[in-house]
Formats: sequence, structure tokens, C-alpha cells
Amino acid sequence: MSLRQTRELLRLTDATLREICCRRFTSEELYSEALGKVLGGKGRRGPRNIFVIFEDSERRVYTGRVYQLREGEMVEMSDEIAIDYASIYAIHIPEAELVLSNWGDTCETVEAYQGNFDPRVKDFVQVPIKNFVCTRIGGERPGAMIAINYPGEATDYDAEVLRSLAVVIGSLVTLSNEVRETEKAFIYTIEALARACEAAEEETGHHILRVNRYAGALAANMGLGDEFVATIAYSAQMHDVGKIKIPAAILLKEGALTPQEEAAIRMHPVYGEQILGDSPRLQVAREVAIAHHENWDGSGYPYGLKGEGIPLAGRIVKVADVYDALRSRRSYKPPMSHSEVLRVFREGDERVNPRAHFDSRLLETFFRTERMFEKIYESLAGESG
Ligand SMILES: [Fe+2]
Ligand SMILES: [Fe+2]
Repeated sequence: MSLRQTRELLRLTDATLREICCRRFTSEELYSEALGKVLGGKGRRGPRNIFVIFEDSERRVYTGRVYQLREGEMVEMSDEIAIDYASIYAIHIPEAELVLSNWGDTCETVEAYQGNFDPRVKDFVQVPIKNFVCTRIGGERPGAMIAINYPGEATDYDAEVLRSLAVVIGSLVTLSNEVRETEKAFIYTIEALARACEAAEEETGHHILRVNRYAGALAANMGLGDEFVATIAYSAQMHDVGKIKIPAAILLKEGALTPQEEAAIRMHPVYGEQILGDSPRLQVAREVAIAHHENWDGSGYPYGLKGEGIPLAGRIVKVADVYDALRSRRSYKPPMSHSEVLRVFREGDERVNPRAHFDSRLLETFFRTERMFEKIYESLAGESG
């Protein structure tokens, strides 16, 4: 393996490992990136086709896909090919540690050599298979990677590159799956915490799930990045976690609150921020918790933040939370219809002053996406979650 290729491989591994923290790769994306970058640089020698076979040992079946390297990018050339366990050669390849072959070494004619491959592979490759290198892939979903048809002869050195890639990719796929599992556990824990905290309030139903969805829809329609959209769509539900520290007698009290009780409730954003701590993963959740009762004109609580000084995530969740609160039945008020809420968001009422409370860009996005809000409310209108 050349120094250049080794360096490229190391750089790629490093970049991929760093990226893996925020991206959830599928194995195909990994193959595509790794093979495309290492084997397929523009104008460099490399295989014309890459055939990646996966082995499902339980079902004793193989599936594969053919790719072509085009200017460093792996382009899918086939749908998934199911390879019959009984078919020849292609299914024997995964059992080999490393195969390096030029047809002339093993067969008299191209046809004889190509006859060793599964017909569906040949159909996609379309030109005679002259030579190939193949290596096993370890990890949770074992298989084989075969690079077919080098412009020149396949060499030991090509086989070495492919083998290194298989090692790296096998472990990255495993790592990526583990990251995904951890991510699932993280989201589950967040939901459990949000649920535990909303239990003290009556009739909230699927409120937290709906607020997640509205917040995600607003963020996406404001053109915010995918990562922020995904993050706010699970962080929004944390807006009221601080209420767990407010006595249920106050939260559930019917009728007017005393000034002391009102002051106690107004502490919930601060408690929420404290509960969420300082984990970087919970930064958006923390911004949501602390800022979802702040008003654009500075008249909100707990800090009276103003305009752009209010974290964006808080401004987004405020719109989502107020919409849902108006739509829902509460002990002190009946539910409103979607069109009644539209009127309040336009003209205001005794509690909501849209121009003073909301970011005007968000209000405009709300009116653009209001049908989505209505759909989300209707699809998750259940009384309990
Ligand atoms: Fe709140
Ligand atoms: Fe809420």
C-alpha cells in the first residue's frame, strides 16, 4: 500500500470517526465514502466496478449491489441483488480471506471465467470480467467486497488497499450501530423524563409530542439546518421539566393563584435549566426550558430577555407551546378550534399579544405552515400518551 493511500486512509478514518458522533451512517454510505475516496480518485487507477456482498448467515442468503466509481463518488448501478445460496462462485467468495485474480491465470477464456459469477452480477457489469480483488468484511453484518475489472492487472497492492478498507469499514459499521443504539437510549430517557415531569398536570395528553412536532416543523420551514431541526424536535418536549419542582397543589389549583403561587410557577424555567445541567447534548433543551416564556418585547419571564437576545430554540417552542395550549382543554378554559387560534395569533386576546410576544419571522412561518399545525394536533389529539 502506498504512502499516499495509507495517509488517505488514515485521514478518512479520523474524519469518519469524528463525523460519526453526529451522523448515523448506513453501511452503504460508509462503503460509498470509503471506497469512493480511497480507490476512486479522479484519474487514478482503480476498479471499474465494486460489488459489495452481504451475508446473512441465519437465513443463509447473500445480497449484493454493484457500484461504479465516478470521479471519486460511488454510484449505485444496481438494485439489491439477491444471490441464491446455491448459485456458484459469487457465494463462495465471502468464505475466502482474500482472493486476487486475473482471469488468464485460472481460465482459458473470458467467458469461462465470467461463467463463475452469478448471472445477475454479470448483467450489471455488462463488460467481461477480466480480473478482480476480493476481501472479507467482518463486523455485525459480514460480507465481501469485490472490486471488478481493473484497467490494468489486479495486484497485491490493490488487494492490500481493499483489505485495509474492509477492516476499517467493518469496525466503523459496528461503531456506527452502537452509536445509533446509544442515541435511541438517549432519546428514550429524554422522553421518560419529559413524561415524568408532565404527569403533575392534568389533561395534557400528547402535548409534549405535539410540541416536538410543531417545533420541528417551524425550524424546518425557517430553513434551519437538518441537525438543528432534528435536535429541536426532541428537545422541545423538555420545556416544562422544571415543573417537577412545583407543588402539584399549585399546578392543579382551580381558580386564581396568589401572587406567591404565581411567583412559584414562574420559577419553572430556572428549575428546568438546573435539571438539564450542562451536558452539551442538552444545550438546545436547556435553551428551550429557560426561554419558552420570554416575550419578544422583553415582558416575559424569568429574565425579561428581549428580541434576538432570546435563544432561537426558546422562541420557536414558545409559538408551538402557545398554539397547543390554546387548542387544548384546561381546567380554566375550553379548547379552541384551529381557526379560533389563527384569529388569536392574528389579533391577540386578553392573554396573547402576538406582535409583542412572538418573533415576527416565526409568526410569519407559523402562518405559512398553519395547516401542518392543524394536522399535527389532529393526528395526536389523544388524551393520554
Ligand atoms: Fe412552561
Ligand atoms: Fe407546555
